[in-house]
Amino acid sequence: MSFRLQPAAPARPNRCQLFGPGSNTKLFEKMAASAADVINLDLEDSVAPDDKPQARANIIQAIGDVDWGKKTLAVRINGLDTPYWYRDVVDILEQADERLDQIMIPKVGCAEDVYAVDALVTAIEAAKGRTKKISFEVIIESAAGIAHAEEIAASSPRMQAMSLGAADFAASMGMQTTGIGGTQENYYMLRDGVQHWSDPWHWAQAKIVAACRTHGVLPVDGPFGDFSDDDGYIAQAKRSATLGMVGKWAIHPKQIALANDVFTPSEEAVAEAREILAAMEAAKASGAGATVYKGRLVDIASIKQAEVIVAQSELIAAG
Ligand code: COA
Ligand code: MG
Repeated sequence: MSFRLQPAAPARPNRCQLFGPGSNTKLFEKMAASAADVINLDLEDSVAPDDKPQARANIIQAIGDVDWGKKTLAVRINGLDTPYWYRDVVDILEQADERLDQIMIPKVGCAEDVYAVDALVTAIEAAKGRTKKISFEVIIESAAGIAHAEEIAASSPRMQAMSLGAADFAASMGMQTTGIGGTQENYYMLRDGVQHWSDPWHWAQAKIVAACRTHGVLPVDGPFGDFSDDDGYIAQAKRSATLGMVGKWAIHPKQIALANDVFTPSEEAVAEAREILAAMEAAKASGAGATVYKGRLVDIASIKQAEVIVAQSELIAAG
């Protein structure tokens, strides 16, 4: 289908997704006041089993009561391998205010997982006369999830974003690490006795980006567990941005500014992109398809690369 245009991903800022447990109500106002583009109220792994019903009630109330501004507001439900997920969907969509934008489905392993949630959501929206169509985001965090990333990206018109969840992913893959993202001590190359660290998350990220870009979905990097390691977070986020991801999770508020900084194109990058576009306009006017900018080749593909940066910067400025 390569003669068709690649579908555009949703035009909304998604530089940082801030998580907070649905059981911890004192965080909700702070999350709403934060600089994160997306808020993820959690019902899954940060909430203990006995606390799930209370967390649902807290979230239902907060969706309507808290002023979430222009943020994308999402609830992370429990996985389809638990007894909780259907009640999460039913209670939230039957009882919560229309302010809710999105449901995050964790541990998705195949397109049918998304189809099952879609069927339930569609029925409740119709029964309750909800006018705003809930969008979906998913977490790829299992061997099955990464193997089926493309069919999952294409699974529903509700699909807007896909994150890599490093901790569950590592466990499912049998990776020998307890780290959540970042450099892994044992993943290195040796040359002349000197160690060079490589990136064990790279292929999974690149696969997610390709699946998402094929189907017009936003690719997002998940959590970085060591929230005292700012430099490690920034390095991971820069690698993700370079690969085409649009944002990263924050599991502590101090990570928000780090993500926003990395995923907002710098003034210099935007200025350079505009100069490349201008250079190509001039080349086109003189009948050339390629020209030289600062000693390097730019051609028609460079226009598309520069447009990605300008479009991202304009989207953020408008948001
Ligand atoms: N959102 C908004 N504010 C938060 C926050 C969050 N996720 N986590 C902490 N804060 C606030 C604290 O309330 C505190 O506010 P104060 O200065 O007004 O007292 C401030 O940020 C500093 O918090 P700190 O004391 O450093 O952290 P903590 O010990 O209170 O909490 C965690 C640490 C990790 C338990 C907490 O950040 C958390 O629950 N994170 C989200 C976990 C989650 O949702 N995981 C699921 C996705 S992987
Ligand atoms: Mg997980």
